[in-house]
Amino acid sequence: LDQYAVYGNPIKQSKSPQIHLAFAEQTGQKLHYRAHKVELGRFAEVAGQFFAHGGKGLNVTVPFKLDAFEFADQLSGRARRAGAVNTLAIQDDGSIYGDNTDGVGLVRDIHDNLGWELQGRRILVLGAGGAARGILGPLLKKGVSQILIANRTVDKAQKLAQQFEKLGSIAGCSYADLASGQFDLIINGTSASMSGDLPPLPSHILSNDGCAYDMMYSANPTPFMRWAAGETAWAVSDGLGMLVEQAAESFCIWRGVRPDTKPVIEMMRQSLS
Ligand code: ATR
Repeated sequence: LDQYAVYGNPIKQSKSPQIHLAFAEQTGQKLHYRAHKVELGRFAEVAGQFFAHGGKGLNVTVPFKLDAFEFADQLSGRARRAGAVNTLAIQDDGSIYGDNTDGVGLVRDIHDNLGWELQGRRILVLGAGGAARGILGPLLKKGVSQILIANRTVDKAQKLAQQFEKLGSIAGCSYADLASGQFDLIINGTSASMSGDLPPLPSHILSNDGCAYDMMYSANPTPFMRWAAGETAWAVSDGLGMLVEQAAESFCIWRGVRPDTKPVIEMMRQSLS
């Protein structure tokens, strides 16, 4: 059987094996997929052994997306722009291809699954870390009118915005700077939800038909989702659909077959509660 795995640390929480095995069953693909905890500092060594022993592809999660970026022999344009790799695939010539499917996963969930318009919309992205960075290119390519990145450390938001300037209208700011703005979509790319925190958001920054998306997911609404509901957002979602969509894109890169994500999102939603 063709071998696939997800590498991360920690890895116990990973839903990738469940998702990829559901895709494999649905599409009639025969493969093996497991989750593996890699010790910090040993990514290149362990990934090198995996491919040397016939492994076909890897998903890469926190904290190894930069290591995977370094490890790849070739990079997709979107991986280069994101500065991070979440999908590795061995090529026929034995070289390793690196891609990043996070951003396209987010865009598919928002646009195709949730049906929220992106074109011409004003977007606020919260956070300027790896998660935020991965989604900027695919959002700009979808024709949004502007992106503002708000971050506690303003400097990081501004530097990140500068790197995407060529793709569209994008700027960085502090949370305090948001008070006078209005946005059609707010995407939470901070890790605040993980510790039950909410970035310091002013009230009334969501437009009348504004939507809110948290890249995190959990059985219960996150603090950011509860905030958005209190601001009478038109629609609110967590990031479970993004998780399944980024996996589907990886699966498609590896197997050349695109799975139907809807039943898998539903299955994952049920397994959360
Ligand atoms: P990731 O790769 O998940 O994005 P990261 O690179 O450590 O992780 O980035 C975490 C992001 O969440 C950062 O933008 C961080 O803000 P700072 O750059 O100012 O540190 C943001 N973040 C984390 N906890 C937060 C909180 N409680 N409130 C607001 N922002 C928070």
